[in-house]
Amino acid sequence: MMPFSVFTPPDSSRIKQIFTEITPRYDLLNALLSLNLDCSWRQWAVGVTLEGGEKSILDIGTGTGKFLKAFLAKGHFEKITAMDLCESMLEKARRALPDKNIAWLKADISSGIPVEDDSFDLVTAAFTLRSIKEDLPFFFSETARVLSRGGKAAFLELTRPRSLWFRALYFGYLRFYLPLVGALISGSGRAYSFLADSILHFDEPGEIRILLEKSGFEGVKSHSYTGGIVTLITARKA
Ligand SMILES: C[S@@+](CC[C@H](N)C(=O)[O-])C[C@H]1O[C@@H](n2cnc3c(N)ncnc32)[C@H](O)[C@@H]1O
Repeated sequence: MMPFSVFTPPDSSRIKQIFTEITPRYDLLNALLSLNLDCSWRQWAVGVTLEGGEKSILDIGTGTGKFLKAFLAKGHFEKITAMDLCESMLEKARRALPDKNIAWLKADISSGIPVEDDSFDLVTAAFTLRSIKEDLPFFFSETARVLSRGGKAAFLELTRPRSLWFRALYFGYLRFYLPLVGALISGSGRAYSFLADSILHFDEPGEIRILLEKSGFEGVKSHSYTGGIVTLITARKA
């Protein structure tokens, strides 16, 4: 799908402002905009990612904690860390996961991941890569640094459909339906225009694979769902 305009990704402070604005309605909007498929996407991703022996997990761009929660429902982790740059999102995630022994990290990935080398078996991020598009090579090298040898990364992201007719339909959805419903429910039209633009201009899974391989990953695999509007990419630290 060809982008119609030049897209300048917002910097971290603008991203923080956008996610702070939409925090109260974030889960509701996700459900409405994805026709309630977002929970299934996360669950499918967990099913494909988990192998059974993982003892530690770091979830980046944890938002309201939905992806982490899906992993905690299936895995048995001794060390759990959740990171986000937005305090209001972390606060909501804390309330959604009250009984879990989770370390909450308020940090901006564009300054690095403030944890030790080789300290996690699994690093996850859902719907976060598009917000850090400009910093992806640095983010992947940081992810490799904090993973233990043989550890796994799993990234779930909104992508573009493969078939031409679905692309045309999806383009209409992104340009008109999504910003309209986003603005009406969250009160932030700008936030949902950013969401649409970031999907239209995001890297193809093949480009992500190349970046991951350059950052020290191997065995990169892609799994696409719902005609390609969502893709899970997994990779192992070499
Ligand atoms: C679209 S939400 C995804 C939330 C959650 N992972 C989910 O499955 O719904 C993206 C999250 O990434 C966070 N984020 C964006 N840029 C970030 C950065 N530079 N550093 C840390 N977190 C960031 C945002 O604050 C937001 O909570």
